[in-house]
Amino acid sequence: SLHGGRGARGLSFEPVAHNKLDSVVVPPGYEQDVVIRWGDPVLPGAPAFDPAKQTAAAQAKQFGFNVDYLALLDLDHDRLVLVANHEYTSELVMFAGYSAANPTREQVEIAWAAHGLSVVVLAEERRSGKLSPVKHRLNRRITATSKLEFTGPAAGSALLKTSADPAGRTVLGTLNNCGGGVTPWGTVLSGEENFNQYFGNADLVTDPTTKARLTRYGLRGTASERKWERFDKRFDVAQEPNETNRHGWVVEIDPFDPDFVPRKRTALGRFKHEAAEPRLTPDGRVVLYMGDDERFDYFYKYVSKNSMRRGNSQAARRHNLTLLDEGTLYVAKFTGDSPAAEIDGSGKLPSDGAFDGTGEWVALASGSKSFVPGMTAEEVYVFTRLAADKVGATKMDRPEDVEPHPDNGTVYIALTNNSDRGVAGKAAPDEANPRTRNRHGQIMEVMESRNNAAATSFRWRLFLVCGDPADPSTYFAGFPKDKVSAVSCPDNLAFDRHGNLWIATDGSALGSNDGLFGVAVDGRYRGQVKQFLTVPVGAETCGPIIEERRVIVAVQHPGEIDGATVEKPGSTWPGGPGTIARPSVIAVRRTDCGRIGD
Ligand code: FEO
Ligand code: CA
Ligand code: CA
Ligand code: CA
Repeated sequence: SLHGGRGARGLSFEPVAHNKLDSVVVPPGYEQDVVIRWGDPVLPGAPAFDPAKQTAAAQAKQFGFNVDYLALLDLDHDRLVLVANHEYTSELVMFAGYSAANPTREQVEIAWAAHGLSVVVLAEERRSGKLSPVKHRLNRRITATSKLEFTGPAAGSALLKTSADPAGRTVLGTLNNCGGGVTPWGTVLSGEENFNQYFGNADLVTDPTTKARLTRYGLRGTASERKWERFDKRFDVAQEPNETNRHGWVVEIDPFDPDFVPRKRTALGRFKHEAAEPRLTPDGRVVLYMGDDERFDYFYKYVSKNSMRRGNSQAARRHNLTLLDEGTLYVAKFTGDSPAAEIDGSGKLPSDGAFDGTGEWVALASGSKSFVPGMTAEEVYVFTRLAADKVGATKMDRPEDVEPHPDNGTVYIALTNNSDRGVAGKAAPDEANPRTRNRHGQIMEVMESRNNAAATSFRWRLFLVCGDPADPSTYFAGFPKDKVSAVSCPDNLAFDRHGNLWIATDGSALGSNDGLFGVAVDGRYRGQVKQFLTVPVGAETCGPIIEERRVIVAVQHPGEIDGATVEKPGSTWPGGPGTIARPSVIAVRRTDCGRIGD
């Protein structure tokens, strides 16, 4: 075998080889099946999925497209609540004969209904652990046109007011939801990421302040890719410049309350939110770690003012739903401890044997108080990137998902890649982002001072510098490189019950399909990366959940490769030849019903 021996506890499986197959590949002794697919019924009255006859009304009752984040919560002894988000739509592989220049109103409205969130109750077959969606009063769809509310210090700000919402307190829809998190009080968080792509005509804006803000958030050009601005003027920046400010937030939803109006939490700042993963401080305050997934953007955290209340009483629930409205927003500065000359962009380890150092959390705003010269607190929350620019935060290689270790609190950050690192006119390599034109990314460990999540200083080190182990610029925490799987472009992260880190990749630069990998972070197998599964052609591996006897992942955008259309598909997974590719959630189990990786 590639690795020999059994490896770390919970990671004893034969690693899957890199491949370009149009299927999900799992290790010998494992099997996988689809839990729910794009178009499967969620709400009463949902018709069976028929891609040739799809309507917006049908889609609004069916499972949406492209899932990134998954949360699975216990409901009762044989049912679970799945919360999935729907990041974006891939019109070319959704609609036969799609014209990007002239989409129809029906196609646009289908796309609106395919965005957002799904809450779906799953029944669990006791013996096999097989999961299937069932009808339930908690089942729910949130789309691009559902009503959400703003809460926290920027709710009601003039910066959030539009002609449709003169109060600046309600917003239609949640768009481009990427990673997320589950709070210790049982709600689900989801980050709005690349919202800029939905808006047209930013180039027609002339006011220089507005223009600078739009540009910093990637809003530029005339017609948008999907042409939504033709069908609703709120997507036309020239007509409704503040509508863009109403996207790029973290959304909190209580999946156990079907009437809960999802809340965009303004205290958590506005950027291309990748994820929001919690830790508690020793005195019970909640801390959320959050990345802004853009080349040279930043890593943030939020510390609540008040402590969480335990228990399921209505009073505790009401209190805990205020925790994300009052607190302090920080951005990270990373400092290396090796001489700058030793960080030459090659990825060669510095003479102290580690890419590592110290860091500080720089406060940006707390409640109505701004710590950023020249910006009000409302401006800090709505234009958080500009605030972080002003305080000199460290420009990172695309911070994707983050995951605190469940036992020791070390925070793991996936930095997925940065093709522009070190090129002319862009930031040079530094010890935290040590490679020029970084194609494969790295994973960082952050250790808060005194292991208190609210600390304002920390130590950090790189755990993995990703790529093909034959590439001398890679680093697998010192583990022998002839015994690891190549891994590239780490994105979503999760821990298993043994404390192993699982890494889902997006856009692997190894020339093979994306996959899911397990790696020990402690003990003698620390750094031994093993590939557990691969996803079909063009797909990204998302939302991993690692349970005792089941691994759940979302297969996002199968078949999304250059030139692919419905007529000329890049993938026909999961239905096989002659069917349309359908983004789906899958579950992997052992054929003998045993424990994963035992
Ligand atoms: Fe939606 Fe940063 O991945
Ligand atoms: Ca060092
Ligand atoms: Ca995660
Ligand atoms: Ca991603």
